[in-house]
Amino acid sequence: MSASKHTITLTVNGEYEQVDVSANLTLLQMLREKLSLTGTKNGCMAGECGACTVLLDGEPVNSCMVLAVECDGSSVITVEGLAKDGVLDPVQQAIINHGGVQCGFCTPGILISARGLLNRNPNPSEDEIREALVGNLCRCTGYLRIVEAVEEAAGREQASLK
Ligand code: FES
Ligand code: FES
Repeated sequence: MSASKHTITLTVNGEYEQVDVSANLTLLQMLREKLSLTGTKNGCMAGECGACTVLLDGEPVNSCMVLAVECDGSSVITVEGLAKDGVLDPVQQAIINHGGVQCGFCTPGILISARGLLNRNPNPSEDEIREALVGNLCRCTGYLRIVEAVEEAAGREQASLK
């Protein structure tokens, strides 16, 4: 039996979208296959790696564990939505500055988790940064440079408010 079809509306990276989805399509599949937003990565499809992290109404979620139909009326931010007017988000710039990208597969999810953290806690401790990234697996970097990058981004954002 095929899954039922639905039409949902939402904003993705600030753009209004109307998308036809089957009831069993995940948010991750919708972003990659229906909207061609392939920056969000498919690592495990099981909620374990964090490569698929996006902001859903401001909160980081594993998009492989959310059904697209659940996102009707929501706001989604993906890694493609972080830069504004050609200027990288501070967490993007900082992760480059610190050499926190190696193979890069985890990077979109890490950037989104970091952005979600700084939106709710502009001045996190190292422990809070590590806690926010606990669901984002990185096989390459050992995390130290990523944590340093989030600290730098937080410091820059705080300084820009003074
Ligand atoms: S692909 Fe979603 S948590 Fe791994
Ligand atoms: S940079 Fe390779 S998995 Fe994180």
